[in-house]
Amino acid sequence: MSHSFAMISSKPQKPLSGVITVPGDKSISHRAIMFGAIAIGTTRIQGLLTGTDVLHTAKAMQSFGADIQQDNDDFIVTGVGVGGLREPEQALDFGNAGTGVRLAMGLVATHNITAIFHGDASLCKRPMGRILEPLRLFGAKTLGRSGDKLPLALSGTEHSVPITYRLPMASAQVKSAILLAGLNTLGTTTVIEPIQTRDHTEKMLEHFGANIKTTQDSGDTVIELSGYATLKANDIVIPADPSSAAFPICAALIVPDSQVTITNVLMNPTRTGLFDTLIEMGADITYSNSKMQGKEYVCDITARYSNLTAVTIPNARVASMIDEFPILAIIATQAQGTTKMQGIGELRFKESDRINAICNGLKAIGATITEEPEGITITGEQFLEGGATIQTFMDHRIAMSFLIAGLITKNPVAIDSADFIETSFPKFIPLMNQLGSEIQQYSSE
Ligand code: S3P
Repeated sequence: MSHSFAMISSKPQKPLSGVITVPGDKSISHRAIMFGAIAIGTTRIQGLLTGTDVLHTAKAMQSFGADIQQDNDDFIVTGVGVGGLREPEQALDFGNAGTGVRLAMGLVATHNITAIFHGDASLCKRPMGRILEPLRLFGAKTLGRSGDKLPLALSGTEHSVPITYRLPMASAQVKSAILLAGLNTLGTTTVIEPIQTRDHTEKMLEHFGANIKTTQDSGDTVIELSGYATLKANDIVIPADPSSAAFPICAALIVPDSQVTITNVLMNPTRTGLFDTLIEMGADITYSNSKMQGKEYVCDITARYSNLTAVTIPNARVASMIDEFPILAIIATQAQGTTKMQGIGELRFKESDRINAICNGLKAIGATITEEPEGITITGEQFLEGGATIQTFMDHRIAMSFLIAGLITKNPVAIDSADFIETSFPKFIPLMNQLGSEIQQYSSE
């Protein structure tokens, strides 16, 4: 049975207040499971996101031979060692998880095994050629549908050759797939990033003892990894996901008299573009209790209702807030002036075509918005009528963004399905309701 959720809060929504912790970072969670699975020894993971995306990755790693057990809230992973992946007996279902499937393809590419990769309807629409192209250069063979879409089969090679690859698009998933393939390849694998993307793979490789070096060269970020690496198990504590924290933070900024605090949020600079943007817009945001947790900087973030001013997002910042444009678009409708999001063409290749999904949804609740091939322009200081059911296109971030929009519309906002929120932010609705929102679930059947 599928469920829908409706905002039934009366207008005005009462202020949001309280202190909450959001689940562990999704990017780091995928990587923690994968690195644990290819390390020698046993890794204890604290704070793992148990969203369905990560659970799909964990199941796939078990199919490759890793042992994964739950111990209360912790996960214990015993790895097979680099080069030790077993051939899965069944096709691997990655559900909605782009990161899971793409990084796993990197691992398989340089093992002498064949794996069949599959996913849900959203994942089967997403481009895999960006991953397969460099993996073929290592020597992997692929067989799939036209346009390199899932489902597809990938046969890795044990005679892989190291590559030097300049990323044609800003993608941490492509970078990570190449580095994971490079682990079981003799020689140095090099990735050149014209635009730096999230660096969790590099940090985690270092944490597990790989020989990896990152340098800057004429504006490029150059990452070099020595192959035939031995990864040694090493415990991991995962901070709260800034991409999930973004929802209650943005909600507090637009619901009058609100104040919320989100604890222990990852503040890696490759991920904090939204917070930089909000502060530039005049948001009342303060950071406290900052500390290092493993190799990452974390802090508590407090956001209070604010008068926001529109900004143009600089191109150089796009990668560091790539998943936050849907929620930024919602709050941009309340800022003074016109918000311009440019150079965001990559949003068309996410769990949905997010440029289109944002624009359709905002128009449905009465906002004035212009959709461009690689951008969105949003008029500020808008009165939003609401009273619509938003198409979420199997996209968790579209679903959560429009539930937040419903906090400030005149009439309730409903979404066609809340099922995919589970992929990244289980308990989103109870946590938001704990802060004072009134998001109610009703069965659509
Ligand atoms: C991710 C990278 C980004 C991001 C995704 C998670 C990762 O995707 O949108 O949610 O964990 O590496 P791209 O690599 O496609 O930019």
